[in-house]
Amino acid sequence: MKKVLFVCLGNICRSPAAEGVLRAQAQKRGMDLLIESAGTGGWHVGDPPDERMIKAAAERGIDISKQRARQVDFSDFYEFDFILPMDRSNYADLMEMAPPNRDSVVKLFLDYGDTKTKETPDPYYGGAEGFETVLDLLERGAEGFLDFLEKHE
Ligand code: 4NP
Repeated sequence: MKKVLFVCLGNICRSPAAEGVLRAQAQKRGMDLLIESAGTGGWHVGDPPDERMIKAAAERGIDISKQRARQVDFSDFYEFDFILPMDRSNYADLMEMAPPNRDSVVKLFLDYGDTKTKETPDPYYGGAEGFETVLDLLERGAEGFLDFLEKHE
C-alpha cells in the first residue's frame, strides 16, 4: 500500500483538506492508500482543521473534522512513499530537512494535476472564496495523482 503525506505550513487549512479530498477520491476508485498530513510549522499541533475549511469541505461531502494537526518529522522521509507539499515555500522547507538517503519522493502536489498553477495558495488570511479555490485545485490535483498511481505504481 502506498503512503502519502501532504504538507503545508500550519496543517490546518490546505494539507488536511488535501488529505480529505484524496481519501474520498481514492475510496471512489477502490484504491487503498495510507494518507496523512503535516505542517512544517508547529503552532497548531493537536488542533482540528480551520473551521472555514471544515465547512467548505463538508459542503462537498468530505469530513475532515476529526483530523488533528501535527508537525513534519524526520522519520516521515523514511515512512512515506510520497511527500507532497502545497507550495514552493513548503517544498524548500522540506528539502532543507530531507535526508539524502530518504525513501520518499518529494514533489509539489499540483505537479500531478492539470491546473496551470502548481502552487496551492494559502487561504488562511483571506475570505471564504479562497477556501473554494483551494478545494477546486486539490480536486484536480487528486485526480491527476491517482491517474499517475494507476499508471505507474
Ligand atoms: P495552512 O494555512 O498552511 O494551509 O494550514 C496556515 C495556517 C496557519 C498559519 C499559516 C498558514 N499560521 O501562521 O498560523
